[in-house]
Amino acid sequence: MISGAPASGKGTQCELIVTKYGLVHISTGDLLRQEVAAGTEIGNKAKEFMNAGGLVPDEIVTSMVAARLSLEDAKQNGWLLDGYPRSLTQAESLEKMQIRPDVYIVLDVPDEILIDRCVGRRLDPVTGKIYHQKFFPPETKEIKARLITRPDDTQEKVLSRLSIYKQNADAVSSSYSNITNKIDGSRHKEEVFKDIESLLTQLQQNKVKIVNSGEKPILDLKKGPASLIQLVTG
Ligand code: AP5
Repeated sequence: MISGAPASGKGTQCELIVTKYGLVHISTGDLLRQEVAAGTEIGNKAKEFMNAGGLVPDEIVTSMVAARLSLEDAKQNGWLLDGYPRSLTQAESLEKMQIRPDVYIVLDVPDEILIDRCVGRRLDPVTGKIYHQKFFPPETKEIKARLITRPDDTQEKVLSRLSIYKQNADAVSSSYSNITNKIDGSRHKEEVFKDIESLLTQLQQNKVKIVNSGEKPILDLKKGPASLIQLVTG
């Protein structure tokens, strides 16, 4: 699971993690934006909350996540949950479903950097790739011409999203205190990824030991969709 304030770099790190480890990336923000773009009932309900920089009601998001986690690819390849749970109620819903991550990564970034990152963010609607006007400009003029800005990426809405994040962050992390790893997300994305990589490599090694020794897992692996264990067995 990966967590952090708006624009802390969750999506950017998930692109790198998925490329290396082949996990199924489940981003509630992306799933909701797809529903909005398709004009579905869920999308129409979610739109006003998202555009105002608020949270979409728990019941909408939770059923969407549960449905996605139950698909075969997530069970087979393992999953990487991004942007969920975002409230204590959501964390409790996962616990009830006995869904627990192997590791809970929190990207830590100071507020002033977050605002700059949000306001300069651009998305490629064709590839889904994340760019930044200053930090990660598009590779070609053709890509530049088709980039879009998210409606919730204005300074005012970022401040509201940040405040909501801060209100919920402690309650959510308390659910995962024994598996939390805070990482300094203010550095270059490759440096941030190095830390994540070494964490996941260590996790893999632990699991190899567990598989080889037949011992009880060091990490608390409850039942539910397979997660990083697939890195070892798959
Ligand atoms: P969501 O899409 O999840 O938004 P968020 O959490 O605010 O996170 P962001 O997508 O803004 O940022 P990110 O951390 O992925 O950063 P990124 O990698 O893009 O959710 C959107 C909305 O959906 C919510 O506000 C809410 O309404 C709703 N929602 C979603 N989940 C919900 C839930 N569980 N419950 C209820 N409602 C929910 O990077 C940002 C920018 O910085 C980019 O331009 C990138 O290029 C740049 N960047 C990244 N890393 C670096 C770096 N190391 N150095 C320099 N620049 C960097």
